[in-house]
Amino acid sequence: MYRVAGLVALLALYIQAIEFEEGDNINVPSTLYIKVGANATIGLPVSANYRREIRTCTTTCNYDEQLYRVCNGKNKKTCGYWESVKTKKKVASGKTTYNKNKKSLIIRNMKESDFGKYMTGNKKKSRYVEQLVSFGK
Ligand SMILES: *[C@@H]1O[C@H](CO)[C@@H](O)[C@H](O)[C@H]1NC(C)=O
Repeated sequence: MYRVAGLVALLALYIQAIEFEEGDNINVPSTLYIKVGANATIGLPVSANYRREIRTCTTTCNYDEQLYRVCNGKNKKTCGYWESVKTKKKVASGKTTYNKNKKSLIIRNMKESDFGKYMTGNKKKSRYVEQLVSFGK
């Protein structure tokens, strides 16, 4: 009898946990669909830096990890742009800023090379930004 009650309680907790997770996602979709040339508002928590994985496909597909440092007044030379982790070189991208009020990474005028997986610097939170292609006008 007690064992059954225990199981039921566990199950109820489990269901609550699932509902909490789903509820969390209602207002903050984990994938955003955006057109080339549009501005992207990518909701991510406040962080000193952000990362993104950009897929580049020619004959095979590769992932380039890139780092973005938020400007804090003390890092003027290394902040405000995306840099390839591998080559340490600046990569072309739409102008990127972090808006603390909107808790969002804002990318103006999205380029084809801006689509991918966006993460906080510690990779704990992430969000996919996919290209929205529409046919016709
Ligand atoms: C993107 O944002 C900038 C600055 O807020 C604005 O001037 C521009 O019109 C926006 N572009 C689009 C396509 O909404």
